[in-house]
Amino acid sequence: SKGGYPHFMLKEIHEQPRALVDTLYGLSSDPTLREASKIMAEARRVFITAAGTSYHASLHFAVALSKIAGVLATPFVASEYEAYLPVVREGDVLIAVSQSGETMDTLKAARAFKERGAKLIAVSNVVDSAIPRESDIALYTRAGPEIGVAATKTFTTQTLLLSFLVLDYALLRGAILKSEYDEYARELSRASDLAAKSIAWSEGLAKKVSEMLRLKQSMYYLSRGVGLPTAMEGALKIKELAYIHAESYPAGESKHGPIALVEEGFPVVFVVPRDVYYEKVLLGNIQEMKARGAWIIGVAPEDTSLGEQFDLFFRVPSSHWLTTPITHTPPMQLLAYYTSTLKGYDPDKPRNLAKTVTVE
Ligand code: F6R
Repeated sequence: SKGGYPHFMLKEIHEQPRALVDTLYGLSSDPTLREASKIMAEARRVFITAAGTSYHASLHFAVALSKIAGVLATPFVASEYEAYLPVVREGDVLIAVSQSGETMDTLKAARAFKERGAKLIAVSNVVDSAIPRESDIALYTRAGPEIGVAATKTFTTQTLLLSFLVLDYALLRGAILKSEYDEYARELSRASDLAAKSIAWSEGLAKKVSEMLRLKQSMYYLSRGVGLPTAMEGALKIKELAYIHAESYPAGESKHGPIALVEEGFPVVFVVPRDVYYEKVLLGNIQEMKARGAWIIGVAPEDTSLGEQFDLFFRVPSSHWLTTPITHTPPMQLLAYYTSTLKGYDPDKPRNLAKTVTVE
């Protein structure tokens, strides 16, 4: 049932605070998280693979692992596994992330890595689905069934789970102290409250902005570093649901080509993580877009120094950079939802898409 909402997607966006609490609770009592950390700690190399939204969560994992544990993971799109296979040997580990646990591209990548001797860690939302069944160990988000074709609550819960995997692994390896672990964990334990605020603060504006956005054919979603996976997720949502061409890339790349498309009124969403470094480097990128007449939509912490730069400002709660996917994704989900419905589309069943892609 849609629980009083007009669409499953809107219901599932609003379920995120609950899904995050449940996932957090599940993790706190689950010894498999430590077992997964041990497999990673014993591994020579860490690969992580997925498709679509789950791939964006995987990118968040890779950035967090580098910044917190000082370890490199290789993320790749599951259907591209063939390019990575020649280097895979016993002693490697592959983390396969799949909401449904049934995506054929991801399953094929997992099988191929396993055949070459890699250990498998599954991250899924569906207990005993194909990928967890074929893995050495399975970690589960507790988002509950996701009916809308577009992934929403499964993305934010995946990033929460994967952030905890990074922390547990970093602690096990001695890359962080217990006191540092506790501090990060405290930030992550605010996830539900952060998502609830982000949704409440942005819903009205998302509705309003959709009226202008529905007339646009093309747009950019830009960020850097820890904000980039979230910007990529924003672009995927507007593409899937509102059928607006959207491209996401690191903001620093603008001047290397994409800025050629920018003219008066071209929408550019900037995802700004809470971090003075990112505020500083993104300021230049915002200004170069503004100089060409771009319509600047900021998704940024309420206390950002960049507020005056934005034509439209989606305020999100101020929190640690590790929670960027949780604070910054909801406004973009809502923007895609309201633009889709305003254009007369069904956001629960976007054209040409299936919830689970079981073919290669
Ligand atoms: C995006 C979306 C798809 C899936 C992708 C992977 O909104 O729904 O891009 O994320 O097909 O699906 P799972 O995570 O089930 O492997």
